Amino acid sequence: MTFVYPDAIVSTAGHVDHGKTQTTYALSGVWVMKHSEEIKKAMTIKLGYTQIGIYDCGDEYYYSDGVLKEGKCPNGEEPKLVRRLSLLDVPGHEVLVATMVSGAAVVDGALLVVDASQPAPQPQTAEHFAVLDIIGVRHMVVAQNKVDLVTKEKALENYEQIRSFLAGTWAEKAKIIPISALHKVNIDALATYLAKEIPRREAELGKPARFSVLRSFNVNPPGTPPEKLRGGVLGGTLLQGVLRVGDEIELRPGLKVDKPKPGYQPIYTKVLSIEYSGYKVEEARPGGLVGIMTGLDPALTKADALAGTVVGKPGTLPPVWTAIEVETKPIPRAAGEKPEPFKQNEVVLLAVGPATVFGVVQAVKKDVITVVLKKAVCAEQGSKVVVIRQIKNRWIVTNYGTLKG
Ligand code: GTP
Ligand code: MG
Ligand code: MG
Repeated sequence: MTFVYPDAIVSTAGHVDHGKTQTTYALSGVWVMKHSEEIKKAMTIKLGYTQIGIYDCGDEYYYSDGVLKEGKCPNGEEPKLVRRLSLLDVPGHEVLVATMVSGAAVVDGALLVVDASQPAPQPQTAEHFAVLDIIGVRHMVVAQNKVDLVTKEKALENYEQIRSFLAGTWAEKAKIIPISALHKVNIDALATYLAKEIPRREAELGKPARFSVLRSFNVNPPGTPPEKLRGGVLGGTLLQGVLRVGDEIELRPGLKVDKPKPGYQPIYTKVLSIEYSGYKVEEARPGGLVGIMTGLDPALTKADALAGTVVGKPGTLPPVWTAIEVETKPIPRAAGEKPEPFKQNEVVLLAVGPATVFGVVQAVKKDVITVVLKKAVCAEQGSKVVVIRQIKNRWIVTNYGTLKG
C-alpha cells in the first residue's frame, strides 16, 4: 500500500476540560496524553499530535480511524481512504495559552470543542477563538461535545449561544456538530465535516524547505549504551518545500554561544529518517505533522529544547533576532477589558511563528514596542506576532502585530 500523506493540520481549541483530548481520541483511536504529569492531572500540558484517515464506506457520512473496527467499515465494507489529516491537540488551561498559540501558528484549520453542559463561551473558548482569528485561521468546525450530559432543550440553548458567539465573524457559518466524544456518538459526522471544510495545504513543493519545530525529543530510553543511541528527533511541520532522508539541514537560531561574541550559532546536521506517526517515508511534505530524526546529540533535543526552531537547507533561512520591534494592536474580542498601554521593563510573552519567548519591553512608541528577547527567534520580517501579557497574575493574549525589524 502506498503511503498517503496528511494534507492539512487541524488544531483543537477550546476551554479546559471541554473534551479536546477525548475528541482527538474518538476521531483517531489514539490517546495523545503520554506524559505522566498529564495523566496525573488529567490535563493536556504539551502539544499532542496524531493522524487520522477519513474513509468513505458508502454511507451518508465518512468514518475515521477511531471508529473503524479492525480496519473495516462498521458495515463490513472495505474503507476507501478520502484523505489524511494531522490533529494537533492543544491544552485549554489558561496558563498554557502560549502553547496553544505556538500550535495555532502552523495549522490549516481548527476544531473548536465546546462543552454543551456549560454556558458558552467560556473564557478560553473566547480566547482561543481570538487567537485563531488573529493568526489568520479561516476554517473551523465546532464540536458541541458532551451532549450525553444535557437534555435536548439545553443542547439547543447552548447551540444558540455558540451561534451568537460566532455571529459576525469569519466563522459565522461554521458547522456545529453535536457529539459525545466519550460515547463516540456522531463522530462520523464530525469526521465528514473536517474532511470537507478544512482545505488542503498548498504544497509549494518548489520552494526551499522550511520546517517549524513544535516539539523535540530524546527517544532513547534511559541507560541506552552510546553505540545504540538514536539521534535527536524534531517534531513539527513543513511549511513549504520538501525534506528528504540524507538532506543536510541548518537549524536556527541554534546554539547560544559566548565566544567569539555573545550570540547564536546555527546548528548543521543531517536528516536520518522521517516518520509520520509510525509510517516511515523518504520525504516529508507540507501539510502534516512529522517526526524527523537527525544526527544531533539527543541531549540537544530532549524535553522540547529545540521547540520554536526553524529548519531548512543551509543558507536559506530567515534572520535571527535577539531584539525585535513589534507594531501591536489590541485584540478586539479578547477575554476581559481593553489592555493598558505597555510599560517600560514590562515582561511579555511573544509568539513568533512556532516560537514562544519571554522578553522585556525596552521602549514604547505609540503602537510600536521594542522587546529584548530572553531567547532568540528565527523569523521573516513582517511575521505575525502574538503578544501575551501578565494582567492580574494571569497570562492573557491582549495584542497582536507584525515584526517590524
Ligand atoms: P484540557 O486538555 O485539560 O484542556 O482538557 P480537554 O479539553 O482535553 O478535556 P478532556 O478530553 O481531557 O476531557 C475532560 C473530561 O471530560 C474527562 O473527564 C472526559 O472523560 C470528559 N469528557 C470528554 N468528552 C466527554 C463526553 O462526550 N461526555 C462526557 N460525559 N464526558 C466527556
Ligand atoms: Mg482536562
Ligand atoms: Mg486535553
